[in-house]
Amino acid sequence: MSEQYFREIAVFGLGFVGLPLSLCFTLANCKVTGVDVNAALVEEINSGITYHQERYRGIPIQEILRRELARGSFKATTDPREALENVRDIIVTVGLPVVAGQPDPGPLVACLESIAQGLKPGDLVLVRSTLVPGMMREVVKPLLEKSGLQAGRDFYLGYAPERIAEGRAFEEFVTMPVVVSGINQESLEEAAGLIGLITRAEIIPASSFEAAEVAKLIENISRDVNIALVNELSTVTQALGLNVFEVVRLANTHKRVKLLQPGPGVGGYCLPNAYHYLAPAARKAGLQLELMPAARRVNDAMPRRVADMVLRLLPVPPAQARVAVLGLAMKDYSSDCRFSPAVKVAEALQESGVMVRAFDPVVPPTYPFQVDSLEKALDGAHGAVILARQQGLPPEDPTVFARFLDGAGPFVVDAKNAYPHPAARELPVRIVPL
Ligand SMILES: NC(=O)c1ccc[n+]([C@@H]2O[C@H](COP(=O)([O-])OP(=O)(O)OC[C@H]3O[C@@H](n4cnc5c(N)ncnc54)[C@H](O)[C@@H]3O)[C@@H](O)[C@H]2O)c1
Repeated sequence: MSEQYFREIAVFGLGFVGLPLSLCFTLANCKVTGVDVNAALVEEINSGITYHQERYRGIPIQEILRRELARGSFKATTDPREALENVRDIIVTVGLPVVAGQPDPGPLVACLESIAQGLKPGDLVLVRSTLVPGMMREVVKPLLEKSGLQAGRDFYLGYAPERIAEGRAFEEFVTMPVVVSGINQESLEEAAGLIGLITRAEIIPASSFEAAEVAKLIENISRDVNIALVNELSTVTQALGLNVFEVVRLANTHKRVKLLQPGPGVGGYCLPNAYHYLAPAARKAGLQLELMPAARRVNDAMPRRVADMVLRLLPVPPAQARVAVLGLAMKDYSSDCRFSPAVKVAEALQESGVMVRAFDPVVPPTYPFQVDSLEKALDGAHGAVILARQQGLPPEDPTVFARFLDGAGPFVVDAKNAYPHPAARELPVRIVPL
């Protein structure tokens, strides 16, 4: 190991977690080699390009990436062997995609097999991916032991599920408490030591891999279920002619009530997938879950509900209508549009015959209905629907709606409480809350 760095680390997976995590370690004076199977992504990253919306003390991730590349403290590669050669610490951030409700272990299995080929005595493998309960012991450990080395005896094996929120990664790697588990006490301590290089928050030991695996899932599921609660509430408030955001605000003045905010649905990689990771373990135990799948159904139905609200407000038949979709990300202030409910709303409107023009300043051009300015999205549209917040979205000056939207009964469906009640009543355009 070269003298100038604390540690040399290999990080597998350079996505929304892996890239900022790698850079967080380089900022803590470690040398990191990032490994990803996506050659185009590796090339982009090595040329200093990323679309992530992360900042560290106000500095955009793009600048940090370019600086660390230039300093030689970070590089990306598609070659696991090269990455593993000089390191003792290996971090895994490759997740399980969910296809038709089933977690696909394929990418993680391939990743672990590639690590097993270069694993050395004394190495630490720390998994940060969200897993199906039981996977650390039943899948991860045996795959790594294909190296001929035994977990807990010849190499350390730890599990610390990642908890950061996209858009706040650098801050939360430092400030978010971390749950850590190990195949044995020594592994737990090694894993905690590595995490301790970047975090100032509490490191909480779990008594087993399984406890850490399930705790991570219920963290995500609790948000999914609580969002479903207020999304379902919004059907009631709408029927009663009330504003759901006002009702939630009022209820939250109770000292023991903490309702979340309703919205156009729940997307991204984390919250919706968590139930699908827990379900196989529950099925294996012969259990029939009731509440969690119901919450998934409520949240999954939201994009269609929002699209139907828009269709009902149109002053012309859908085939003659134009609608501006504002915000395409799966959540506020993110460039991630994976499983985004906003995209689903846009697609549902299109399927009904509506011409959709969608604007999101940070989601990379992906969809044929995307345009590159707010004005282009709004110009001549019959109405708009606000689905995600971004810098400059929703527009600070709401008179822009009156200027650009079509004259006949323009409306703005506000799924994000961008224009809170009752001030919204004074605006020169009709605001329709969720
Ligand atoms: N995104 C978040 O905010 C977040 C938060 C907490 C936890 N997590 C969890 O962290 C994990 C990673 O999430 P993400 O959002 O970074 O996913 P991501 O899809 O953005 O990144 C995963 C990366 O792994 C790469 N990959 C696939 N197979 C590989 C292999 N064999 N070797 C090396 N790289 C490989 C992919 O090309 C991709 O770039 C998941 O388990 C997720 O549930 C994510």
